[in-house]
Amino acid sequence: AEYQTKTYWLTEDIVKKLLPKRRQDSHKGSYGTGIIVGGSKGMSGAVILAANAALRTGIGLLYTLVDRELVNIIENSSYESITLEIEENLDKIKPYLDKAQTLLIGPGFSTENREELLIYILKKFTGKTIIDGDGLNLLARIKDYSLIRENHILTPHPKEMSRLTGLTLEEILKDPINITREYSKQYGCTIVLKGSTTCIGTKGGEIYLNTTGNNGLATGGSGDVLGGIILGLLAQGLGVEEGANLGVYLHGKAADIIAEEKGYFSLLPRDLPKGLPLAIKTLY
Ligand code: APR
Ligand code: MG
Repeated sequence: AEYQTKTYWLTEDIVKKLLPKRRQDSHKGSYGTGIIVGGSKGMSGAVILAANAALRTGIGLLYTLVDRELVNIIENSSYESITLEIEENLDKIKPYLDKAQTLLIGPGFSTENREELLIYILKKFTGKTIIDGDGLNLLARIKDYSLIRENHILTPHPKEMSRLTGLTLEEILKDPINITREYSKQYGCTIVLKGSTTCIGTKGGEIYLNTTGNNGLATGGSGDVLGGIILGLLAQGLGVEEGANLGVYLHGKAADIIAEEKGYFSLLPRDLPKGLPLAIKTLY
């Protein structure tokens, strides 16, 4: 009952205070370094979408870590990111992880033969981390929830939430707020349960409900953009709760701004980073 009261709408007033500070006297090191681990044959786009979103959010330096066969595609599509190759020998991956302070793992990652890699990365990388998409599907399969730490953000859609928790889709959709609250507390991390009203739960049992965004976001790839936006914010120093809240707000706001021009039918995930400059501007 105590927790019933800790539910808030994510208003412009709340998110305005979260925008990272930028100083004239600064350099790329001032805005943090991120690494995206994701992509697989047929799903390189997820990494490209996330990378461009992180860059448009203001990250200082961005690496992507992908399968060898994806390296050229990413190189040709994201000029500002630095592409690294997933080595067979896991120990060779450690120096790559050491380059970054923040991690996004999972967009378009595939779940095929990835268990060992996911476990290795989650154990070796101790910075703020967003686990999305197939990263969550792998976690659901491995079922070692001790891999989840308080500086983690999980970004499931309801089906991924169902795999993760073992609850049915119906159970989740019937009471998303309390389920998000319960599992954020249980896992001791931040959970972003995505939907038309995205629900953000903190390890302390608070819930934030977002109202920006529209049905133009209902296209595969929108979620990858959200992961990239949050990565950009974490790299710039926001904590996981602040980064999740501001990221979800800006993602929806960017969609609302783009929809004014493109309409709900034609909005594509790749358009969202172009809406970010104006979305961010509404907050300062
Ligand atoms: N109103 C507001 N926001 C919406 C709406 C809506 N009607 N519909 C979708 N969204 C937002 C969600 O809140 C979320 O931020 O769009 C994003 C969708 O993210 P995901 O569900 O993760 O979808 P995405 O990863 O882009 O693509 C589908 O999920 O099921 C898997 O394997 C499938 O890889 C595929 C992926
Ligand atoms: Mg997704």
